[in-house]
Amino acid sequence: MKSLPKLLQLVLTIALIYVGFIVVFDYVLGQVIPASLLNMYMFFVVAGALAVFTFTEEGARELAAPLKALVEDPGKKSLRNIVFAAVLVAVAVFAYFRAVPSLEAPVELRTIHPAPPSSAKLYGKRYDLLTLENPYRHFEKEDPEQFNELVAEGSAIYIRNCQYCHGDKLDGKGPYAQGLNPVPLNFQDVGTIAQLQESYLFWRIATGGPGLPKEAAPWNSSMPIWQNFLSEEEIWKVILFLYDYTGQRPRSWEE
Ligand code: HEC
Repeated sequence: MKSLPKLLQLVLTIALIYVGFIVVFDYVLGQVIPASLLNMYMFFVVAGALAVFTFTEEGARELAAPLKALVEDPGKKSLRNIVFAAVLVAVAVFAYFRAVPSLEAPVELRTIHPAPPSSAKLYGKRYDLLTLENPYRHFEKEDPEQFNELVAEGSAIYIRNCQYCHGDKLDGKGPYAQGLNPVPLNFQDVGTIAQLQESYLFWRIATGGPGLPKEAAPWNSSMPIWQNFLSEEEIWKVILFLYDYTGQRPRSWEE
């Protein structure tokens, strides 16, 4: 140990104890060490190690010598500049990663597609969600021309109201999506609207994030309550558009 500089000894000691804590917790105790506990332990380790390494006057001087030389020695000018620049960059990178919002889902478990209630009060009326059907769906077979018109109306409603979050390609990548958590649904994904009935979509669109039942909480969904802004007919048309554009079929009981 004699040959190693004191400063390096100190850093190595602290690093070794840090790794030691993690190994003991992870492999010996089989537990993940909480970050707050590890921080507290490391605070005392650093304080203790500093106390030992600076116990004698001479030890303290030896410890500080490389730092002192770095700052004062005229021969170390370029090294000094590099170190100072590196410190600045490190602080900037650290600050950036602390401030950048994370799109990761919170750790809590939640249901993305909660079971709908069997009936719901929408537009001041009670609807049986098990039997509720899209009043325009039958045009698809009976009058395709009329149907295409309804889909076109639905697309206009979508562009005016929904694309900000769900995206103009219905892929959940609208201009606002980056700032939202949970993120807006990607309707192109086969796991979303293709798995759902039209009545489910009607209920979810009409009641939005605040209409989600308890089992879906905590779920701070930004999905607006559309029954406050759109008519029933507009919601049914926008649903036609969602399926038509993505080429998905709504889930139905007959199939
Ligand atoms: C302010 C952003 C925002 C706008 C505008 C918005 N949504 Fe959403 N929407 C979300 C978010 C976030 C979710 C995912 C969380 C959730 O399910 O509530 C979502 C979920 C949904 C779902 C989820 C259904 C499910 O459970 O799979 C449907 C359907 C939907 N939106 C339709 C629409 C329609 C139709 C419009 C336009 C009339 C619209 N949204 C406008 C943010 C938005």
